Amino acid sequence: MDPWWRHAVIYQVYVRSFADSGGDGIGDLPGVRSRLPYLRDLGVDALWLNPFYPSPQADAGYDVSDYRDVDPRFGTLADAEALIEDAHAHGLRLIFDLVPNHTSDQHPWFQAALAAKPGSRERARYLFRDGRGALPPNNWRSAFGGRAWTQVADGQWYLHLFAPQQPDLDWTNEDVRAEFRSILRFWLDRGVDGFRIDVAHGLAKDPAMTDLGHGQATSGPAVEGHPHWDLDEVHDVYRDWRAISDTYAGDRTFVGEVWVADPTRLARYLRPDELHTAFNFTFLLAPWDAKALREAIDESLRAMSEVGAPATWVLSNHDVIRHVTRYGGGATGRRRARAAALLMLALPGGAYVYQGEELGLPEVEDLPADLRQDPTFWRTKGADPGRDGCRVPLPWSGTEPPFGFGSGGTWLPQPPDWSGLTVERQSADPASMLSLYRTALRHRAALTALSPGTLTWLPAAENVLAFERAPGFFCVVNAGERPAAIPPAVPGELLLASDPLTDSRTLPPATAAWYRAEATT
Ligand code: GLC
Repeated sequence: MDPWWRHAVIYQVYVRSFADSGGDGIGDLPGVRSRLPYLRDLGVDALWLNPFYPSPQADAGYDVSDYRDVDPRFGTLADAEALIEDAHAHGLRLIFDLVPNHTSDQHPWFQAALAAKPGSRERARYLFRDGRGALPPNNWRSAFGGRAWTQVADGQWYLHLFAPQQPDLDWTNEDVRAEFRSILRFWLDRGVDGFRIDVAHGLAKDPAMTDLGHGQATSGPAVEGHPHWDLDEVHDVYRDWRAISDTYAGDRTFVGEVWVADPTRLARYLRPDELHTAFNFTFLLAPWDAKALREAIDESLRAMSEVGAPATWVLSNHDVIRHVTRYGGGATGRRRARAAALLMLALPGGAYVYQGEELGLPEVEDLPADLRQDPTFWRTKGADPGRDGCRVPLPWSGTEPPFGFGSGGTWLPQPPDWSGLTVERQSADPASMLSLYRTALRHRAALTALSPGTLTWLPAAENVLAFERAPGFFCVVNAGERPAAIPPAVPGELLLASDPLTDSRTLPPATAAWYRAEATT
């Protein structure tokens, strides 16, 4: 049988915004534990948790000061161990977030580097360099805005591709490599099923540290030839890690956060002795347009099949504008999001569901500036609103904030009109987004067993996608503005539609439907 990660639906838990057991307005690990039955009943296979390690939270936990413990805001190490055990008891696997590109500036290693001299072993773990006169060593930019270098008291500069509180490690350094092998083992020994690797395309840097050239940006998917994204040397690290994870029983897995423009470059991370899967941002970045979606799907499937890896599909995460809003917002955005969910969940490979997308949450665009926490907002002086709008705590129940999130408010304010979007309200409504996800996931689970990882496109009208996903299982998506007839090549009974159909052979605009031919099961 295929290992689980080849077709898993993985739910992303943004811990600080999921459920708060402590009453401080911040979600925590016991909060996640308390909601495991919800996640099991939703029908997902695994959870990916954003970082919960000790951290000054300069970038919401992506600035780790101790990789082997839990931040007191989120619980204790014992809570993490109990969560692993409990998740397994609920039939859910667990993926933790590993942040190898940089540490926190409060990590003991960086503190020691600051106290040590230029040229010391302590400094060699990071990327300290001399400047060019009064200028930094080169023109590299931080992904959060501003320069990627900060000067220390003795005049040297250190590299941080993100915030100044996130100094980049030097991955040519053996201390660094050994430390991360040991961190992997620490969590693998505790039963974690896998890791999501943060900024997986960033670990290796051009040793000459050449300037960014024309058209070479820090943000957005990287193009070949970039001096600090997607260098060939990064693959050595993953070969090393794979050799470790393979010594553990239970199909442990890696998923890389790899922002590269070319799916063929992405596939290089998924060669048989490297990572198992990677996020596929081509699909996420595609607009609501049949041609663009089909191209993203085809390109991804083609590139992945070259290395024998499964594709993964994702519509939202904690770094991007929620897709209800990206697809136009309001009733239009919701309709398209419902259709997109059925499209994503019908595709071969794995899928990621970002917490709250199953509730149809929109981006919260009007958060007051003084409550915003994302360094992107502050480092661009508000020119980039940042990522807080997709990180607002979940509405669980009741009619007013904090909507059952916890007993002590929420770290970001929830819109009062989320009263109509709570888990409680949507559970009782068969037409809700939550009911759509639950039903789709139930059907998908049944299909996974019988379906190979293939997809066959069928002829369809303009702005309509139609494919056979497994023998006798069909998905049709009308991404257009006018009703479309179900193509004759799609036989069978209607299994599920993202919105009501006027008749079973016509799809209204922005609607997707699954069909099943009886005889083939
Ligand atoms: C990744 C994370 C993002 C974080 C950044 C720096 O892109 O998903 O949230 O800010 O890495 O660690």
